[in-house]
Amino acid sequence: MIRGQVTGEPVQQAEAAMSSDRPLRRLWLRLRALPQPLSLHLRARRLVKACWLLAGVALLLLLLGAFRFYYASQRCSRAAVAPAFAADRRRLLHVAAAPHSAAPQQRTVYVITPTYRRPEQLAELTRLAQTLMHVPALHWLVIEEAACTTAAVAELLARTGVRYDHLVAPMPEECSILPGGKPRGVPQRNRGLQWIRANASRGVLYFADDDNSYDIRLFEEVRSTERVAMWPVGLVGNYGISTPVVVGGRLAGFYDGWISGRKFPVDMAGFAVSVEFLLQRPNAFMPYETGFEEDGFLKSLAPFEPNEIELKANNCTKVLVWHTQTKKNEPSATLDIKKYNNTNLVLLKKIIV
Ligand code: UGA
Ligand code: MN
Repeated sequence: MIRGQVTGEPVQQAEAAMSSDRPLRRLWLRLRALPQPLSLHLRARRLVKACWLLAGVALLLLLLGAFRFYYASQRCSRAAVAPAFAADRRRLLHVAAAPHSAAPQQRTVYVITPTYRRPEQLAELTRLAQTLMHVPALHWLVIEEAACTTAAVAELLARTGVRYDHLVAPMPEECSILPGGKPRGVPQRNRGLQWIRANASRGVLYFADDDNSYDIRLFEEVRSTERVAMWPVGLVGNYGISTPVVVGGRLAGFYDGWISGRKFPVDMAGFAVSVEFLLQRPNAFMPYETGFEEDGFLKSLAPFEPNEIELKANNCTKVLVWHTQTKKNEPSATLDIKKYNNTNLVLLKKIIV
């Protein structure tokens, strides 16, 4: 009854339309006129309900996973890696992946390293080379105190991938017998200055002895030098540090175990000079004066006064370079060639001193 009442009208309409319509349309109208089976509605609703339930569970699982991941990464960075270190490491990895992909506008850091043949030389240069390999836009001037270059040093430099020039500068004979002792590394540093004058027009120069320990962050401080910059050097003399003294962001003096009347009582590793600034001072050079090499060089940059020094390493509060010293070793004993001929020792002895 009820079905008849409900469906009667559409059936009549459908029959009326049938005469003029095509067979397919007629079939469609018939089907539409039929009452929908109740079970189909129910099944569809149940299906929708199940879908919603599944989606809810999936969302919950997703949230749980994200929370676990976040919690694990937080715990790892708190326990194992300080955030600052993590940032440094990210930078390091980036640099290591592309050691020389420096942006073209980046200023070159010219690192001048005096060196000489001795048992420790290859060990020192290996360590320094592998620090410099992490620094982009760097040009290493390795200058031996010798009449000609050493093959083992040349080989070492060639495999670093660092941009470099391998030069020599012998010590003038009269300087090796000075009363205060030989002014170590001076002929090489002056050779480096000469090379820069002939080959560079912009950038920054830094004197890096082969036996110190350098934090790679130092080279970014060096790079931003506009004229002359300074920073602390660890492990110098009996004070343990050599540094500009800073008060309220301004230079107030120098802290160094050996002032000795020096206008600039600083360590060789504690300053950098811009190439542009050097080129405006054609007479700047390092004197052969043992103990006064840094002071003499900085004074030769006149006009330049201590109050013009750019203070780096967060207002001289960080130590980014250490004046380390390696224990001196005696040259190795001569090889018993009768006993070890045709062994690897013949080759090894050519490397070591
Ligand atoms: C200290 C200063 O920090 C140096 O900058 C300074 O040149 C030196 O004193 C000096 O007395 O003139 P220190 O660590 O005592 O340095 O000296 P070394 O490390 O023995 O020598 C400094 C640099 O000169 C090194 O790169 C070293 O390889 C080189 N050197 C040393 C030579 O080229 N020839 C030498 O006979 C000795
Ligand atoms: Mn040294």
